[in-house]
Amino acid sequence: MATLIIGGTAGIGAAWAEHRRAQGEAVWVAGRRGGDWRVDVTDPESIQALADAVLAESEALTSIINTVGFLHSDGVRPEKSIRQLDPANALLSYQINALAPALIGKAFWSWLRKAERPVYASLSARVGSISDNRLGGWHSYRASKAAQNMMLTNLAIELRRVNPGATVVIMHPGTVDTDLSKPFQAGVAEGKLFTRPQAAAQLDEVLRSIEPAQSGLFVDWNHQRIAF
Ligand SMILES: NC(=O)c1ccc[n+]([C@@H]2O[C@H](COP(=O)([O-])OP(=O)(O)OC[C@H]3O[C@@H](n4cnc5c(N)ncnc54)[C@H](OP(=O)(O)O)[C@@H]3O)[C@@H](O)[C@H]2O)c1
Repeated sequence: MATLIIGGTAGIGAAWAEHRRAQGEAVWVAGRRGGDWRVDVTDPESIQALADAVLAESEALTSIINTVGFLHSDGVRPEKSIRQLDPANALLSYQINALAPALIGKAFWSWLRKAERPVYASLSARVGSISDNRLGGWHSYRASKAAQNMMLTNLAIELRRVNPGATVVIMHPGTVDTDLSKPFQAGVAEGKLFTRPQAAAQLDEVLRSIEPAQSGLFVDWNHQRIAF
């Protein structure tokens, strides 16, 4: 058993790598800052090169977990109003939060199609649920996560036809104390801001409970299905 965590160099991904290693599992991480392989998910060739390298070296691969995500950076804050919508930031959000998870599916397709019970999980966000959207705002992040959900639903459907043993899971981690959530933690209810190890343990328990028949599920850290 071996897991590849894309985005496993920081945040929830790094904690998830620690969690699986502590359980005695082989874990490889990939990220911009290094790890076992370098990858920049804004570059499709970099994703393909990662897949080629991993699949050439690692016959034991059983799971891929994508924890890469983008909400803000220096000078870029999530929009409170449509008036703040910036095309370049919206496209970057789409590239990282929606296109990259799909391109990972494309790059690892040969493995997803042929492996015995391959698992591909990707972190989305509850705010990507269109039916759950009551507050508005965060236009680019919400829309790009909603697009990820559609991309991975499509992948799950296509994959089911050729490999019924495969599982694709779209996950919401809850609010977790990382760089991504740091500027937005003030309003989080007591007990609802998870530490990274806590989040990793919760997500891992949920992921391990999901069967191939449930492939395409959008689920939170507490086993609750989220409506798209
Ligand atoms: N934290 C929360 O409360 C929360 C809530 C809901 C959903 N989520 C989702 O959960 C996932 C993980 O979030 P997090 O809080 O752990 O975020 P984080 O601390 O910002 O970590 C994000 C990870 O993505 C990597 N990354 C960013 N851009 C990349 C790129 N272009 N290529 C390769 N790697 C890249 C980062 O690596 P480097 O910067 O080292 O390259 C880092 O490892 C995201 O999808 C996020 O949207 C988080």
